[in-house]
Amino acid sequence: MTPLLFFLFTVSGVLGDLKLASYYGDHMVLQRGPQRAVMWGKAKVIGDEVTVAVSGAAAVKTTVVNDPSGTEGLWKVKLPAITDPGPVTVKITSSEGEITLSDVLFGDVWVCAGQSNMGFALSRVMNSSAEITEALKFKNIRIFKTGQVESPSPLEDLKNVSTPWTAPTQDTVSAFSAVCWLFGEYLYPHRNYPIGLVESAWGGTPIEPWSSPDALAKCPQPQVSGPKNKSVVWNAMINPLLDMTIYGTLWYQGEGGMPNFYGCQFSALIQDWRQKFRAGSEGETDAAFPFGFAQLAPNMKSDDIGVFPGIRWSQTAGFGFVPNQKMPQTFMAVAMDLPDYNSPYKPIHPRYKQDVAHRLVLGARAIGYKEPNVIFRGPFPKTFSLDNDQHTLKITYGQNNPLDVRNNHGFEVCCSSQSTTKCTDTDEWVAAPITNQDTHAVSVSVAGCVSKSPVGLRYEWRKSPCDLKQCAIYGKDTDLPAPPYIRENGFN
Ligand SMILES: *[C@@H]1O[C@H](CO)[C@@H](O)[C@H](O)[C@H]1NC(C)=O
Ligand SMILES: *[C@@H]1O[C@H](CO)[C@@H](O)[C@H](O)[C@H]1NC(C)=O
Ligand SMILES: *[C@@H]1O[C@H](CO)[C@@H](O)[C@H](O)[C@H]1NC(C)=O
Repeated sequence: MTPLLFFLFTVSGVLGDLKLASYYGDHMVLQRGPQRAVMWGKAKVIGDEVTVAVSGAAAVKTTVVNDPSGTEGLWKVKLPAITDPGPVTVKITSSEGEITLSDVLFGDVWVCAGQSNMGFALSRVMNSSAEITEALKFKNIRIFKTGQVESPSPLEDLKNVSTPWTAPTQDTVSAFSAVCWLFGEYLYPHRNYPIGLVESAWGGTPIEPWSSPDALAKCPQPQVSGPKNKSVVWNAMINPLLDMTIYGTLWYQGEGGMPNFYGCQFSALIQDWRQKFRAGSEGETDAAFPFGFAQLAPNMKSDDIGVFPGIRWSQTAGFGFVPNQKMPQTFMAVAMDLPDYNSPYKPIHPRYKQDVAHRLVLGARAIGYKEPNVIFRGPFPKTFSLDNDQHTLKITYGQNNPLDVRNNHGFEVCCSSQSTTKCTDTDEWVAAPITNQDTHAVSVSVAGCVSKSPVGLRYEWRKSPCDLKQCAIYGKDTDLPAPPYIRENGFN
């Protein structure tokens, strides 16, 4: 050891002062190439050199710099782009110590965030014991779960880790997010390389705590509808993850949302997370990384409309489908047809997470991985024609995939007595049963409007619109439901 180094040890640092951020560890998945994984940590000796060596790849070096937000120094490196899945050993060395991570894989890292339906554990899904047994076979899918912590200011690192990186074990995978896990499991055969899943979820949280102040500033501000203050979950459970290079994000949240606000808030959150994950990873996380989400499931047996249809619509920023111009590179699992009124975990937590995950994987393959010819959306109405006598409305769907019509209800028309072409709050919605169908179209009766004019149409516009997988319209080849729909400005 040189006298200088010895001097530095004794004055500012000692062996053991070299540290890694909380979410790097044995058994982890680092983002594979062409993206470059970022690693960072703390050290005491400013200016000291840190070397990070992945077995089988060129070592990278960096120096410890001042960290304006803390008392220790900070180091951060970008690894080379690595596509070999491993397992590899990662050695981090400096004059202050040496850290060795073993059994590290390179694959795609997905962050899964949201409230209780994202936190809903694999041990609670339908057929859970069979699912857990199956899960244990997927040793190249690795999981990590953050602890639930809030903070009034952004945290640099996680304060609390619930499950450090691990291959699935009986205990860890049982307690892990079912939607997140099953997504990884169903995606895996289509990628054939490791998948890293990071769960960061907290039951009962509205969207505001998950939004940074920048995201919140983009939208009109409602009162926060839950127990957590604005940005506090973002600060403690997302901000610390920004420096990790990731492939994409999944989101299951919104049950307590407000329809008039959620559309702006959600689009703003997506845009903000993308910007900040990109900045944190020094440009390695894609500026338009794939962002998948579950549309709200039913929450109780009831014919009521309630707020869910409005929130579902807002989850698509008012388009009814994604991706769209306000929500590029997003994909959605429609879940309104997955009621589970007997769920022992309350009807707002349906146990059919397998279907949600299957639907998300189709979106990830089409949008997130640009796989050609993957149909990832159910049928969506494209054109409308009212017959001359205004007895029927023909709805033509804009997809090559033929329709699978499972029953004749679910549609309603808005009847207006005014000579307007717009449905207003005082107009009445009446049932419009399906009377005819062909491969790509259905006709609905608008006779319920009697002498009034049909000026609007809505579909499955109820909090809990149908029995299990028994909404009216599905894609025949995909089994994907047509999403809920509303149109209030006539049919011209
Ligand atoms: C549960 O297992 C049964 C029997 O294998 C199967 O028919 C059913 O589809 C499974 N349910 C889910 C939600 O996977
Ligand atoms: C850490 O996270 C766990 C699980 O999310 C939580 O139960 C616990 O209260 C947290 N601990 C602290 C100190 O915040
Ligand atoms: C919530 O956060 C705001 C700042 O965003 C702060 O002014 C307010 O005191 C906080 N409220 C609580 C109850 O912590």
